[in-house]
Amino acid sequence: MALPRKKFIAGNFKMNTTSSEVAAYLEVFRLETDKINDIDIVLIPPFTSLTKASEILGGAQKIRLGAQNLSPEAKGAYTGEISAAMLRDLFVRYALVGHSERRRLFGESDEMVRRKLVTALKSELRPILCIGETLEERQAGQEKAILESQLRTALEGLSAEEISEVVIAYEPVWAIGTGLTATPEQAQEAHLFIRDYLGKMAGTSVANKARILYGGSVTPETARELLSQPDIDGALVGGASLDPRGFAKIVAAAVPADEK
Ligand code: 13P
Repeated sequence: MALPRKKFIAGNFKMNTTSSEVAAYLEVFRLETDKINDIDIVLIPPFTSLTKASEILGGAQKIRLGAQNLSPEAKGAYTGEISAAMLRDLFVRYALVGHSERRRLFGESDEMVRRKLVTALKSELRPILCIGETLEERQAGQEKAILESQLRTALEGLSAEEISEVVIAYEPVWAIGTGLTATPEQAQEAHLFIRDYLGKMAGTSVANKARILYGGSVTPETARELLSQPDIDGALVGGASLDPRGFAKIVAAAVPADEK
């Protein structure tokens, strides 16, 4: 039997938390997660708080940092952009690409998402590729076609080894910030579809090892049931990650029952 996939819990702070707020957050969050092991924990504060978070965490293995975005370019005259090298310099390990807020509010196309993903991979930042359908697309029964097309444009032509570096986040747009969570069954069905499609693109061994996170109104109350689905390997949490105690409860919900 394949080894179980290590659970992965990430908190996307979005445009919240100054650097002093991040310092206060970490003080509580580190205490609350002190006894939790064997879970990949990733905090994704705004760029301006990464330096402070990085100073506090140092080389700590337990809590890693991620960026909410990155430039597809390496360096140069791109006012307002942040490069992969700048992020690596702060010991950032992960970068969100294709978050629905970037696609919808900032006009990021599938092609732009792909360029950012490739730049992240080249720079040894592990991309967290966000995909997901809108409510209209789900109501029209198109959710699988949308997931397939977002995966294909982002990953087609990459090697199996490159694809194995990518974490996927299934974030149905209708569940983000709305309080509407996909049911565990809806999420499991989408995750299984994504894993099967990854298998077609990169082979079953890569697909079986891939971490596929669910995102969209995850709370300490809904986390455990979602995380107990066979193809849900973690969560990408927005609003509920802003409270360090609540977010620590979501991390605790990911600990396998036999380790508690
Ligand atoms: P909420 O958890 O606030 O719905 O946000 C989910 C999300 O967009 C995480 O990236």
